[in-house]
Parts: sequence; structure tokens; C-alpha cells
Amino acid sequence: MNPADTSDLWWRTAVFYCLDVETFQDSDGDGHGDFAGLTRRIDDLDALGVTCIWLMPFQPTPERDDGYDISDFYSVDRRFGDLGRVVEAIRVAHDRGIRVVIDLVVNHTSDRHPWFVSARRSRTSRFRDYYVWRDRPPRKKEQLVFPGEETSMWEYDERTEQYFRHSFYRHQPDLNFANPEVRSEVARIIGFWLKLGVDGFRVDAVPFLVTREGIADEQDPHSFLREVRRFVNRREASAMLLGEVGLAHQEQLDYFGDEGTELDLQFDFLTTAKLFLALSRQQATPLAEVLASRPTVDARHGWAIFLRHHDELNLGLLDDAEKEEVFARFAPDEDQRIYGRGIIRRLAPMLESDPRRLRLAYSLLFSLPGAPMIFYGEEIGMGELSTDLGRGAVRGPMQWDAGPLGGFTTSTPSKLRRPVAGGAYAPAHVNVHDQRRDPESLWSFIATLASRYRSTPEIAWGDLHVQDPGDPRVLAHQTTYGDVTFIAVHNLSAEPVTARLEPLAEGRTVTVLLESSGSAPQGEHTEQLLDGYGFRWFRVSPDAWSAA
Ligand code: NOJ
Repeated sequence: MNPADTSDLWWRTAVFYCLDVETFQDSDGDGHGDFAGLTRRIDDLDALGVTCIWLMPFQPTPERDDGYDISDFYSVDRRFGDLGRVVEAIRVAHDRGIRVVIDLVVNHTSDRHPWFVSARRSRTSRFRDYYVWRDRPPRKKEQLVFPGEETSMWEYDERTEQYFRHSFYRHQPDLNFANPEVRSEVARIIGFWLKLGVDGFRVDAVPFLVTREGIADEQDPHSFLREVRRFVNRREASAMLLGEVGLAHQEQLDYFGDEGTELDLQFDFLTTAKLFLALSRQQATPLAEVLASRPTVDARHGWAIFLRHHDELNLGLLDDAEKEEVFARFAPDEDQRIYGRGIIRRLAPMLESDPRRLRLAYSLLFSLPGAPMIFYGEEIGMGELSTDLGRGAVRGPMQWDAGPLGGFTTSTPSKLRRPVAGGAYAPAHVNVHDQRRDPESLWSFIATLASRYRSTPEIAWGDLHVQDPGDPRVLAHQTTYGDVTFIAVHNLSAEPVTARLEPLAEGRTVTVLLESSGSAPQGEHTEQLLDGYGFRWFRVSPDAWSAA
């Protein structure tokens, strides 16, 4: 593959790392992470093999939805530093060849945003039409995003005697994209952050931006997203839009648009849900099926693959029986579940910190076609906090060393927004410092995976084919790009298996790229012996290559 042809589509092969500045590294001992702290940690991310950092929202916020409730789009919450520190962090990341994307949260503002404060003061406010008002909520019932926490998407405003719409919490009024002034505001926000050096955006809540009944342009509901894309292209053609579109694959296709007119990359929520179904059944079939049916997209577009992220592990795309199976296996206690659809746990506790199962899961993450995304702390197998914290259970302070507060801060526990994990997942047992020095650690394994992934671009670029290995416990998938084929076999079960691979074409050489530790020596390519939870990656290339 010639990088000259493809490196401008850098997101296709990125290794993403999502973090919240607030919980990553405190530099001044006030108990809050900050940009100065993040800047000090960029070399650690570089060592892990990260190529793009995704920053969760860090703008001023009343913090009622972990920063997804923004009260000023143009600055930084004082606890985390100032714009100078943001630019410094971006510059240092770029210096290490790491890109930085930030959350673009423009579906709504905080109710403390000056636009909304003014809008609810009077019906004649010049910002009134920035939001969505109705005399009466529409009759049609909509599916709530936070059932149990909200009862409606419309909130009555006593003073001006109308209802405003909020897709999420009632303190997050929806912006009105039918208003051209709102569209211009969004363009200015995007232009501002691009000018400060960000390389793109993780676009929050995309379907809500385009499909609201009676709100977006009903004739052409995607026009707003296309407008955003066109604007980004004009200002910075290499900037990427990574969308949160929690829908089934066929529906997601609409959000790529035609030939680069909407999102570049989308999180693959369905594959994640099926992967957990497969892990809970110890059967590869659900994963094999979803991969085989995943639509192919053109070269500009791709999928971001993830195991865990900052929200609940969303099983909403599974049917009820499948969802119950995953719940029963990975969230046996009711309080580990949320909104009737998700699990608020980190991966390591779900897999009982079993190194074989964790490695299998991460080997899948990096070998499935797409760009892998790691949520901070997952690379060392951090545990979740008390589930009383809701989604906050997976958003605890990063554990850098074995100290009582994990090297996250020199502050005192009472100053922390969320506590540091205790018990088997306390920093004394789970931290970056120790794992970086241990070649057998999860951190070291993930660094190896990132390195193999980055030197195997055909994983992300190639055409996918799912083989039938003759055993439902095994996933055998391959991606072919030009002359080169990448093949991976994974045994999702605890028992040893023999999987049958398709014979190689004449004149081809096989190189093993990676395998689970202690794997039996290989004989015939077509007969793959794998230990329980074992895996192996290969590259198949023309003989002439190995002779060269
Ligand atoms: C999606 C974000 O991932 C989630 O954390 C947030 O609560 C909602 N959008 C609302 O912004």
C-alpha cells in the first residue's frame, strides 16, 4: 500500500484514545485533571501507540452531564486551564505525530448558556428562536434517551408559558437548526476550534441533529450535516468527522452521505453489541454474522470499533432475549444495568480480569476492520467505581502509579469529584507505571497490538471476507488489499479447538504477525490449533515479497 495515496484519509487507520481531561492528570493538586497534566502524559499515549486523542468536552459547564452540558462554546472550564494550555496540549500532541479531535456537542446547550438564559426571559428575546418551543408538546410519544431519569422530551417554562424541547436531560435544551442563525453559530464554533489546531470532531448525538420531527428541514433532513461537512472542508479539508450514530448498519449508511458529504467515520455500535453477545455465548457466530452483513463503504469512510467507551455498554441494538443473555453474563446485578439497555461496567471486571479473555477481546478489537478506539484506563484493566454513580462508574480517575490516589493528583480524596477505585482494582494493583515495565502486562500487550495494527494497514483498508472455519466457536476473518491478505483466527471458547482455514492460493507465503502466548507450533495453514481463547494473526503475501 502506498501511504502517499492514503495518508490524507488518516482516520481510516487511526488508533483512537478517548479521555476526559477532568479525570486524566491533575498538575496543580486541586483535585481536577487539567490540560497541563494531559500535556505531561502525551508521551505515555505515544508509547502506547495512540495516533489520535479524542477529548471529551472541557468547555465551561455546570457539570450536570459530565461536560456534555456546555455553557460557553469558546473557552475552557477554569478548573482545566485556559485556551493557552489547550493549544499547548495540541501542539505537543502534533509534535509526537498524534492528532486531537474534540467533542462537538451542538445538539443542545446547557440551560445556563447565555442564549438560553435570554431565550427563557421573554418570548421576544433575540435568542428565543435558537431553541425549540411549542405551546403544547406533540402527541406522538418519542423514545426517551434516559428513561428513569426523564419522563418527557418537553419541559414547561413557567415564565414564558411554553414548552421547550430537550432530547436528553431537561437542563439541555435542544438548539433549533431550522434557524439559519443557529447554523451560523455552529459554523463559528467549528471554525474556532479548527483554527486552534484540532484535527476534527467526534460529533455528539448525530441522529438527533437530523431526524427531529418538525424541527430540521423535513424535505431534506440531512442538509444540516452536509452543511457542517462543507464548512469543515472549506476551512480544513483534512479534518475528520467521527459520528455517534447508535443505529443499525443500514441506517448508518445515510450518515456517510454520498462520497464524503457527511461523516467520515462512525462508531460501530452494532458490532460492539454482537461482540459482547459472542463473548457471553463463547460462540463466534453472532460476530461472524454481523461482520459478514456489514455494508461496505467507500474509501473515504470507515468504522470506529470499540469495546468500552464513556457511556453505558449499549445493548439496545440486540433483541430482548440476546440483551438478557449479555446482562446475565456480564451484569448479573440489577444495579450494574442502566436505562434498561446498558451496562455500567468496565471491561476488565466484566471478564473477571482473566488475561486470556482480555487479550482475546483486544485482539478482536484491533483485528476487526476499522479504526480501534480505547477508552482511558482500559489499557491497564481499570475497574469501575460504585454503580451508584450511574454512568460515572466508568469515569474514575486515571491510575498512573501505585500511590493511594494513583498518581492522578497530589490532592486529598475529599477534593476529588469521583473516588479512586479500591480493592483488587486499586492503583496498588492496576497502574500504568508498573504495567509499562512488565512485558507480560495488558498495557504491553495493547502496545504490541497497536504497533501490529499500524504496520498492517490492510486490516482497515482491505475487503472483508468471513471464512467458515467449521467450528462455531471460532471467528476466521480476512481482509484483502491488493496483493496482501490479512487473516485472523480467534477462539472465543475456553476449550482448545482446531479450525479449518481456506487453502492458500499458489505462490503465497504466510507470516505469523501475532499469536496468543504459549500457542502450539504451527503445521499446515489449513489446520489451525488454538488454545482456549487463543488467536493468531497472519499476513499472506506473494512469495516474491519474502524473497525480496
Ligand atoms: C452522548 C454522550 O456520549 C453522552 O454522554 C451524553 O449524555 C449525551 N450525548 C448528551 O450529550
